[in-house]
Amino acid sequence: MTNLHNEWWRKATIYQIYPKSFCDIGGKGTGDIQGIISKLDYLHALGIDAIWLTPIYCSPMIDNGYDISDYYNINPDFGCMADFDQLLLTAHQKGIRIILDIVVNHTSTEHQWFQSAIADKNSPYRDYYIWQDPKNGREPNNWQSKFGGNAWKFDQKSGQYYLHLFAEQQADLNWENPKVRAEVENIISFWAEKGVDGFRLDVINLISKQPSFPEDESDGRKFYTDGPRAHEYLQRLSESVFNKYGSVTVGEMSSTSLAHCQQYSATDATELSMVFNFHHLKTDYKNGDKWTNAPLDLLQLKQIFNYWQQGMYNKGWSALFWCNHDQPRIVSRFGDDKKYRVQSAKMLANALHMMQGTPYIYQGEEIAMTNPHYQSISQYRDLESINMHRIMLEEGKTEQQVMAILANKSRDNSRTPMQWNKKDQAGFSDVQPWITVASNYPEINVEDALLDQNSVFYHYQRLLILRKQLDVICWGDYQDLCPEHEQLFCYQRTTPEQKLLCINNFSAEQVPYALPDSLCLENTRVIIANYNSPEQVDRNGQVVNSLASKAITLRPFESLVLLEAV
Ligand code: NOJ
Repeated sequence: MTNLHNEWWRKATIYQIYPKSFCDIGGKGTGDIQGIISKLDYLHALGIDAIWLTPIYCSPMIDNGYDISDYYNINPDFGCMADFDQLLLTAHQKGIRIILDIVVNHTSTEHQWFQSAIADKNSPYRDYYIWQDPKNGREPNNWQSKFGGNAWKFDQKSGQYYLHLFAEQQADLNWENPKVRAEVENIISFWAEKGVDGFRLDVINLISKQPSFPEDESDGRKFYTDGPRAHEYLQRLSESVFNKYGSVTVGEMSSTSLAHCQQYSATDATELSMVFNFHHLKTDYKNGDKWTNAPLDLLQLKQIFNYWQQGMYNKGWSALFWCNHDQPRIVSRFGDDKKYRVQSAKMLANALHMMQGTPYIYQGEEIAMTNPHYQSISQYRDLESINMHRIMLEEGKTEQQVMAILANKSRDNSRTPMQWNKKDQAGFSDVQPWITVASNYPEINVEDALLDQNSVFYHYQRLLILRKQLDVICWGDYQDLCPEHEQLFCYQRTTPEQKLLCINNFSAEQVPYALPDSLCLENTRVIIANYNSPEQVDRNGQVVNSLASKAITLRPFESLVLLEAV
């Protein structure tokens, strides 16, 4: 039986790098591995334990690397294998682990397996993919691609369709074929053998499809999400690769359920270390539709966190996150990216980092980068956004309405170049970058953040230290203190020795709040807050402040974390 307390990643914080937008040393307008190496000291100063790199393998970059054409080589745009080896070595010397992204629900259609499969029906690779005959002269069923449109693409030559749950250039692999599973084991072993510390598994709960490919009254997702053999496949991978190398693993779970996530990340480690789910980020959708502009439903957000925090407690392990390369910037989304940018970014950080799980910081989140508020479709690069622009116009929305939705929901909101300093292109590159830099880089950049002891950067730094110091953050149970409150999100974490209260105002108004009767003020201290002056907050996360009364009034986006020794 594993001793959970020995697993480094339970008290760790992981930093996500989207290499194309992180730092360009080569002068091509796209980030590269040497750029990442040049920033390792910065990341070390932040205090992170590991880096998750989104895909760096050979790829035609239709979906920025999530369309892999060769799993064993580095995309020349990012550098070469020697660069990668140098990154791994240098990161390890600084005590930073490296987690690679493994995309094996699908390959690029430029992968040689697919090229062979489509060229010849009798190819040994034909059965690496999912082919079906037409039904009544049409697609085999009505399953929809996650990027819009039908999920089947017709191949004239063979008269069959292949499945692509994402872009048509991303053909789904056929995991029913044992040869595919063996290839996946070989790929992951190759990188583990090099010394890579772990893997983030892209949409890994979609790998097992219902083999009869039924028609659906909806978009088909129920026939391939957490499918019939998903757990079995992961158990085998875990036995043959992950356990052998001691890899940390995080599965990206699309539209999943608590019961499945408990099993994927069960504490007996037969499948994965931890899981990402996205339910909390659907709380600003209208009727389940992402492509709408709806305000945050705070009650729903709290309900979802409560359900998952309590449901995973002692059963599984969550990856905690607000941001990634597919999500808009959280400060623009659930905070206020103008007047209260700094306060709301710190508040959102507290609200997430005091939960149970392993937090992920997405590049730029630690300086509260915002959505770029692009004005024209010509500024967008993401294929999903460009598809949805066309589809929404076809549905009858005006250009202005569509642009307003993209400005809030497009994946490009998080893919703008990292803002390093005030120089041209925010110090990201010497040339015009592949995507426009957000115009606020003269005010929001790393150089300034490092000079300001009150910056969002140092707030994150303190949160990372607190997680390591306080067992209650890692192991405490979870209780929502005010599930019905329209503006506040307050929860409590408890172990037999400690009680922690995380009190957050999600509004731009002053809001009164009465701390629970059971709290003993004499034994309680504020350990991190977002309105404190820096001298009140010890950088080591020690004693900060005490409260005079249980009746408090929270200022706009104010956040307080209280620790009671019980
Ligand atoms: C999830 C990734 O995060 C996203 O960027 C990608 O487009 C899809 N999976 C398909 O691989």
